[in-house]
Amino acid sequence: MKIVVLAGGTSSERDVSYSSGKKIYYALKERGHKVILIDIYLGISCEVDNIFDLEYDWGNDICEIGDTAPIVENIKAQRNNCKSVYFGENVIEICNKSDLVFLALHGENGENGKVQATFDLLGIKYTGTDFLGSALAMNKGLSKELFQHHGIRTPKYCRLRPHDSVDNFTYPKVVKVSCGGSSIGVYIVNNDEEYNSAILEAEMIDSEVLIEEYIEGREFSVGIIDGKALPIIEIIPKIGFYNYKNKYQSGNTIEICPADISYEKTIYMQKIAEKAYKILRLKIYARIDFIMSNKNGEIYCLEANTLPGMTPSSLIPQEAMVVGMDYPSLCEKIIELSIK
Ligand SMILES: Nc1ncnc2c1ncn2[C@@H]1O[C@H](COP(=O)(O)OP(=O)(O)O)[C@@H](O)[C@H]1O
Ligand SMILES: [Mg+2]
Repeated sequence: MKIVVLAGGTSSERDVSYSSGKKIYYALKERGHKVILIDIYLGISCEVDNIFDLEYDWGNDICEIGDTAPIVENIKAQRNNCKSVYFGENVIEICNKSDLVFLALHGENGENGKVQATFDLLGIKYTGTDFLGSALAMNKGLSKELFQHHGIRTPKYCRLRPHDSVDNFTYPKVVKVSCGGSSIGVYIVNNDEEYNSAILEAEMIDSEVLIEEYIEGREFSVGIIDGKALPIIEIIPKIGFYNYKNKYQSGNTIEICPADISYEKTIYMQKIAEKAYKILRLKIYARIDFIMSNKNGEIYCLEANTLPGMTPSSLIPQEAMVVGMDYPSLCEKIIELSIK
């Protein structure tokens, strides 16, 4: 098949996206597909007629993920053509020539449904959830409303502006942007000073900011493929919480799959993950994040990810491996389901 792996963009998760994209690109090449890897925002300046036949290593000069998220303004400055159009030079033309676009995008404009809606209208096939589920899952406030409505336990929360309830949570508490990912804009705060500075930073990232009760406990994640839960993975950061650095720097976090929890808890968490997937209208694959409280053993659903990380340290590939699905097979499965 002729496949475009789309990565990059203007989200603060663009480096993570490139890391996912590079791994997907090589896996699909290994499986004999004609693959190209391009930046959705920067595009490419070249003759596109025979682009899938070029002998070129598109994954060659991609850097590793840094300790901190990149400064997106620097990326925007690299583009001098029509900045009001999100798609970079030749991106739509090349996607139109492909059989399928494998979305390796993360965060805003990639995971929020806008690219999916555009592709639907243009008749371009892509991997993963469509625009509706993407938009619902990207907004944590909206996802949590749906979780509560359907009886899925989620940490108590309120929106900062307008206050939709009184924030009477004791410290530590969590300040997080509603539409974020990779823990960018997530702060665990211990006093008023940290709270106020977290709010200032969060509001620079997103206009909607949530305050959540802090759940002290063990953290888990459940991948879903085609509505069915994979084995659960436990995530144990060596220092601090599961922040950007602990997510992507190898050796910072211990991951155990299958998680060492009882059979009953396993089945229960997998069922909630499948339910969350369903009520958020997710398709093909996704990953749902949980915390199990140390206090009462209750399982809290944090959020859903519609284009979960596919980087070397990502969770879904590890879960798939436990059921005998290696990385290229996971990519092929996503393709097969998306084409259907
Ligand atoms: N309510 C909470 N209680 C405890 N830890 C939390 C809470 N919310 C988030 N965290 C921590 O922050 C990380 C990122 O939060 P999450 O809501 O999953 O956002 P993201 O979309 O950035 O992954 C979680 O993996 C967890 O380690
Ligand atoms: Mg998360």
